[in-house]
Amino acid sequence: MLSPSLLSADFGNLRKDMEWFNRSAAQWLHLDIMDGVFVPNISFGFPVLKYVAALTEKPLDVHLMIVEPQKFIPEVKALGAYLMNVHYEACPHLHRVIGQIHDAGMKAGVTLNPATPVCVLEDIVRDVDLVLLMSVNPGFGGQKFIPHTFDKVRTLRRMMDESGSRALIQVDGGVGLDNWKQLREAGADVLVAGSAVYGAEDPVAVCEIMSK
Ligand code: DX5
Ligand code: ZN
Repeated sequence: MLSPSLLSADFGNLRKDMEWFNRSAAQWLHLDIMDGVFVPNISFGFPVLKYVAALTEKPLDVHLMIVEPQKFIPEVKALGAYLMNVHYEACPHLHRVIGQIHDAGMKAGVTLNPATPVCVLEDIVRDVDLVLLMSVNPGFGGQKFIPHTFDKVRTLRRMMDESGSRALIQVDGGVGLDNWKQLREAGADVLVAGSAVYGAEDPVAVCEIMSK
């Protein structure tokens, strides 16, 4: 599956980018919310996303790169999000936050930064619907893919199979036509791609390939 990241869209003409996105084979839309604290950048917030959400019927996959993400569960829910994804590094009480997201009626995801090992998820992997492995340090689009991610995907897949977790594995950062297939073969279910999709001459054609 493919979840194009809106971060690389043309913010001066979001309506146009939403028009081809809706026609494309991409299954989800990935929304990166930043706070300038957890990551050294700020993207867009709920007042903008409200309009984006109204332009698509596809499931919204909301990646919160912010401290205290649990404060924004009602806002994410109000967008009509399918999945709310919080960082492991931002949640000292992760089990509680996952429960709160589920109570709000959304799928719950947890994200790991490149330096955080997969083993920290051992006691939560059965409770989440998705694990996102960052393959760049979060905060910016267009960065270079960190190859160690392949090993992490395989380790996570093994851990999930052993524990009986049915969560999806998602990979985000530097994903494109040169590595998407290898990632799928390693065990990734959902790929996030920003610049590789929005920067392409024919984004619909790229979505067609990478959404398999
Ligand atoms: C990075 C974001 C990504 C970003 C990916 O912090 O989480 O979703 O948009 O962009 P690319 O695909 O260009 O690396
Ligand atoms: Zn993201």
